[in-house]
Amino acid sequence: MNILILGSGGREHAIAYKIVQSNLLNNLFIAPGNAGTSKIGKNLNLNISDFNAIKQTILEHKIDLVFVGPEDPLVNGIHDFILQNQDIKHVKVFGPQKKAAQLEGSKEFTKEFLFRHHIPTAKYQSFTADNLEKGYQFLETLDAPYVLKADGLAAGKGVLILNDLQEAKTELKEMLTNQKFGEASNKVVIEEFLDGIELSCFVVTDGKNYKILPYAKDYKRINEGDKGLNTGGMGAVSPVSFADKIFLNKVEERIIKPTINGLQKDSLPYKGVVFIGLIKVNNEPFVIEYNVRFGDPETEVIIPRIKSDLLELFNAVAEEKLDQYHLEIDERTAVTVMLVSGGYPEKYEKNKEILGLENVKDSIIFHAGTKSDTNKTVTNGGRVLAITSYGNDVKEATKKSYESIEKITFDKMNYRTDIGFDL
Ligand code: AMP
Ligand code: GLY
Repeated sequence: MNILILGSGGREHAIAYKIVQSNLLNNLFIAPGNAGTSKIGKNLNLNISDFNAIKQTILEHKIDLVFVGPEDPLVNGIHDFILQNQDIKHVKVFGPQKKAAQLEGSKEFTKEFLFRHHIPTAKYQSFTADNLEKGYQFLETLDAPYVLKADGLAAGKGVLILNDLQEAKTELKEMLTNQKFGEASNKVVIEEFLDGIELSCFVVTDGKNYKILPYAKDYKRINEGDKGLNTGGMGAVSPVSFADKIFLNKVEERIIKPTINGLQKDSLPYKGVVFIGLIKVNNEPFVIEYNVRFGDPETEVIIPRIKSDLLELFNAVAEEKLDQYHLEIDERTAVTVMLVSGGYPEKYEKNKEILGLENVKDSIIFHAGTKSDTNKTVTNGGRVLAITSYGNDVKEATKKSYESIEKITFDKMNYRTDIGFDL
């Protein structure tokens, strides 16, 4: 098969790394990719928001399957676009159609879905500029902290958690009347704060059947002890020790099954992965959010734990034969630590030469924000590299990643020194 991966992060490198191990693969293309993917496939300089350019690429390289990494093309309907084009409609797409991608594209859509299917989640109400006063009144009925969510996509920045009622009211007004997050905050979901510990659940579905991939925990804040600004994710661990059998059984019965059934009942066409952001509150699972794609950096610990063939999995999804696929999981623990550019998630510099990659033997290096520059590899983003290691437990895997990191340098390199320490 000829495969096209859309995206350029650590997630896409991890998917590419696994796909090249498949006997089903002929040619692998990544658009736009990074320095890591260029070594195992062919990077294509392509704007992934330009669906016509994607179509040309599919035709030129005789692509059989498109794997969509990030959410934007899905929310904007890349799957539908391919289905609606005579010359490429035979091409398989891993990722839901637009109608179903609203599970990530609209917080209100998600909350309505959750309530309609009786899936546990925080109580909420949504507001627009026209009923701002009602929004203030709803805030007054809640206890601090206050959770405000821009309804639409806001590059992961659209959620505010505020301790003070007055501040919450001010921010609500900023979002609704001053477009704090652009059009994404023309509608705002206000919800009850859930106090617990979060974990990420990935369910692959062909629309009828499902397979649960390994659970993972990601570390979202920039500083040790989960302090400081939110990032795309500074590290991840799989499996998750605090998610025991009894808890995971509740997740499957109360959340996964009703989610997959809900997709069918609501006629939401879904061939891809449902990323369920969960929170454990007093041993009970609640849904914080859905995403319609793999998580990053969770993918960098989940993919290495999948032993069975990933292209076979993607094919089974496309052909609605997921029930016939045997998912095989590596029992070992995997840990990844993100190396980021100094200053990230705020302003940072690019084009710093990365040294020492060839000296790392005991970890897998997944590239994120990197590019090749003549004979050098240089930084090209905030999150630069994900250093993944296996171990018999979190401690062993973490130790290996931190030992590997000692061998890598670039100017102003930063990382968290406590990934996995809480587990
Ligand atoms: P979301 O984009 O909906 O995942 O929200 C981003 C982050 O905000 C989540 O990963 C949680 O850490 C936090 N969060 C969102 N909703 C809630 C909630 N109802 N209670 C507590 N924390 C929340
Ligand atoms: N790691 C969280 C995300 O991919 O959204």
